[in-house]
Amino acid sequence: MIMDKKAYWNKRFQKEGYVWGTAPSPTAEYAIEIFRKDEAKKILVPGSGYGRNTKPFSESGFQVTGLEISDTACEMAREYDPQTRAYNGSVLDMSMVPGQFDAVYCYNVLHLFREEERFLCLQQCAEKVKDNGLLFFTAFSEREPSFGRGQEVEKNTFESRPGRPVHHFTEAELHDYFQDFQTIESGITEDYEDHGEGPHTHVLLYILARKNSNKII
Ligand SMILES: C[S@@+](CC[C@H](N)C(=O)[O-])C[C@H]1O[C@@H](n2cnc3c(N)ncnc32)[C@H](O)[C@@H]1O
Repeated sequence: MIMDKKAYWNKRFQKEGYVWGTAPSPTAEYAIEIFRKDEAKKILVPGSGYGRNTKPFSESGFQVTGLEISDTACEMAREYDPQTRAYNGSVLDMSMVPGQFDAVYCYNVLHLFREEERFLCLQQCAEKVKDNGLLFFTAFSEREPSFGRGQEVEKNTFESRPGRPVHHFTEAELHDYFQDFQTIESGITEDYEDHGEGPHTHVLLYILARKNSNKII
């Protein structure tokens, strides 16, 4: 399964290059302000792609580590954002990434798995965050235009291509995922992109949460 996904993403980056352009998501700028106020220094970006959303962090002075399944994307990232250390591996097993981080910024990766792996992804991220550290995640919402595209393989999870699930969260569900954390803020955010089928707006959910040292994850 992991090899399939790696091949899928490699092919995508080889064919489409900077798939989503180089402008970062507005959520990256938003998270930067929050992480700065929290005096975070070391940031982990799981599913870091070619670096469009790591670069604003590294250019803002954070020490940034990326983790990315596609070696093609990692090579692109090393050129595009050389200040970020990009590891080539899966967010489902972060054993190759040394140390702990003050905060995690994870953009549009959590919805790319079936349920069991979504929980594993979050658990792996949580283990990499120090006590009282922050987690900022975005994911596809139920209001995302692609909702319902393909075969429904689990509730609100659709595969337009076999083996490539896309889950659509409700806000309540996202809160459930983060129930062992202290949720600080959540909501809908709209991200404009122009690629593939042309200009479109993603309707995303975001959540900002703190890892509580007094709770067991
Ligand atoms: C929708 S893209 C978002 C990319 C990046 N966060 C950005 O904003 O540019 C999802 C990214 O997650 C990566 N990815 C998918 N499955 C992964 C996995 N199991 N482990 C690590 N990265 C993964 C993909 O290669 C891709 O770069």
